[in-house]
Amino acid sequence: MATERVSIHGQWSNRLAFVLAATGSAVGLGNVWKFPYITGENGGGAFVLVYLLCIAVIGIPIMMAEVMLGRRGRQSPVNTMRTLAAEEKLSSHWQWLGWGGMLAGFLILSYYSVIAGWALAYVFRTGSGLFTGLTADGVQSIFSNLVDEPERLMAWHTIFMVMTMTVVSRGVRGGLETATRVLMPALFVLLLVLDGYAWNSGAFKQGVEFLLWPDFSRLSANGVLIAMGHAFFTLSLGMGAIMVYGSYLPDNASIAKASIAVSVMDTVVALLAGLAIFPLVFANGLEPASGPGLIFRTLPIAFGHMDGGAFFGMLFFVLLVFAAWTSAISLIEPAVAWLVENHGLSRIHASVVAGVVTWLFGLLTVFSFNIWSDVKLLSWIPIFHDHTVFDLLDYLTANIMLPLGGLLIAVFAAWCMPRDSSVDELAMGDGFSYRLWRFLVRYITPVAVMIVFLNVIGII
Ligand code: TRP
Repeated sequence: MATERVSIHGQWSNRLAFVLAATGSAVGLGNVWKFPYITGENGGGAFVLVYLLCIAVIGIPIMMAEVMLGRRGRQSPVNTMRTLAAEEKLSSHWQWLGWGGMLAGFLILSYYSVIAGWALAYVFRTGSGLFTGLTADGVQSIFSNLVDEPERLMAWHTIFMVMTMTVVSRGVRGGLETATRVLMPALFVLLLVLDGYAWNSGAFKQGVEFLLWPDFSRLSANGVLIAMGHAFFTLSLGMGAIMVYGSYLPDNASIAKASIAVSVMDTVVALLAGLAIFPLVFANGLEPASGPGLIFRTLPIAFGHMDGGAFFGMLFFVLLVFAAWTSAISLIEPAVAWLVENHGLSRIHASVVAGVVTWLFGLLTVFSFNIWSDVKLLSWIPIFHDHTVFDLLDYLTANIMLPLGGLLIAVFAAWCMPRDSSVDELAMGDGFSYRLWRFLVRYITPVAVMIVFLNVIGII
């Protein structure tokens, strides 16, 4: 049977609690904000198809592997990897996987918090009826006014970081279950309402076609990497967030069922968001490739014209903030768990330390949208010619660090760990499902990640 280890941070009450927390982590800005804007920048349908493929053959198996390692180690990713490596008599360097993940989580949260700040700002902008009756132009200028002012972005970023660290300091289990149980379904329903609006926008067909019709001539090698990176990002994989959540999972819960449930819900939310946004983009003559501001430039047009739009708009952004909140806490949990385990800090103390450092780093993103909007550090590399500091941070973390983390998780789980250990921990027997899992993690993930990397660098 499984190991006797227990987590010093406690345990989820059951599988449902884990599914809720992991869904809370997975569903966030990645689905509603990032997925539509990168789909717009990378030409639509073909990009979406590659993304869906990556979710199915890489995302779900890696989620299972990550949860499995977490549950077996029952500690923060750094210590889990160290313990599991020692157990299998492997190099202690495996703990670097944990370190890299902690760094990735911290870098991602630094910009994630700034964008969540935009969503916070929009709670008040929509709620006050600011968008009522506005044309697309008016909506664009409200967005520009927000991001043009560093002080304002800094203020919202600060509020969001304080919200995040408050929950983290109390331990991620309290309160989180209820919040996810009620708010996620509400977000889902509101997306359906927006889809209904898009249906009547006059350009529904064009929007759906853009989202779902694969035209491979519009997809570059770099686009494939972005699609793969996003599969990791949206499922919170490759940096230990899901590993740490797995470390609180009771021994008898089915890892496969939980991983599939989380991935399916996450994917449905992203597609619903895309379906709401692209018809609006086309109905209003906007540019799908208009970048990170996409949802903030399109959805308010809908809210400005529908009955009760101020109310629905406010509700939508409130729910988006909650979705971002439940994701943000998982980005920093590995670091906080580690500070508690290895440095004997209290959770509160650890949260303050991690929060302040992340906040400071977030200023890079704040300035990327205004005073440093012309700073393009890597403009001599073609794919980065237009990348601000924020764009580079996003690229480095989502498209390089997460897939690399995923690759190492795959190698550890399916090459280094003896077959018996994974059979034991996954507890689904060693029939077809187990073999399929092992095949995907052992061969498909490492090979796919390597091919996509080499392809972007131009080696193949
Ligand atoms: N998955 C979240 C989203 O889509 C973001 C996120 C939370 C994340 N935890 C993570 C991304 C860990 C990568 C790794 O918004």
